[in-house]
Amino acid sequence: MNQTGTEVQNIILIGFMGCGKSTIGRELKRVLGFALVDTDAEIEARAGCKITEIFAKLGEVGFRDLEATVLADLLEKHPSSTVISTGGGAILREENREILRKLGYVVWLRANPETIYQRTKKNRERPILQTDNPRAVIADLLEKRTPLYRECAHLVIDVAGLNRTEIAAGILESAHYYFSQQQS
Ligand code: S3P
Repeated sequence: MNQTGTEVQNIILIGFMGCGKSTIGRELKRVLGFALVDTDAEIEARAGCKITEIFAKLGEVGFRDLEATVLADLLEKHPSSTVISTGGGAILREENREILRKLGYVVWLRANPETIYQRTKKNRERPILQTDNPRAVIADLLEKRTPLYRECAHLVIDVAGLNRTEIAAGILESAHYYFSQQQS
């Protein structure tokens, strides 16, 4: 229940860069007719510039502050029937992890480091991966973040070998069960 006494039926997507959170968010919106909030898009809209520029101007800490504010504001709005797609580092701060769990059913989309590397290597819009050795950065960050994703998630899905329809179907079935148990 949220503070207004109604059931909170939101689906929150977490997981490392390149695991398909935005794609699956759009697929769930299409299938469910839910609203879709992409926290990275919201951060860019508020800052009036792209994430790469936010990192260049404010550094990672500045970006994380904006990310935390967007999540806190989202919880304040008591969304319902909404899919929320988050940035890969949204789970880093403890207060964010608490907010994500309060927002609804948290789904961790997971892939191995090599799959992530292959899926992100051509993209220049992720400042954290613009290094000489992105493979090493991915492996290191994944190791550090894995316990945090695990702590936050209600459901884990290994995305390799599954298409968007299959992933969305798995999420829908589990979320439906979870929400039905919340009501009983
Ligand atoms: C980040 C992931 C990005 C974006 C920013 C930082 C991270 O989102 O929030 O570049 O620290 O993992 P995606 O996971 O959607 O790429």
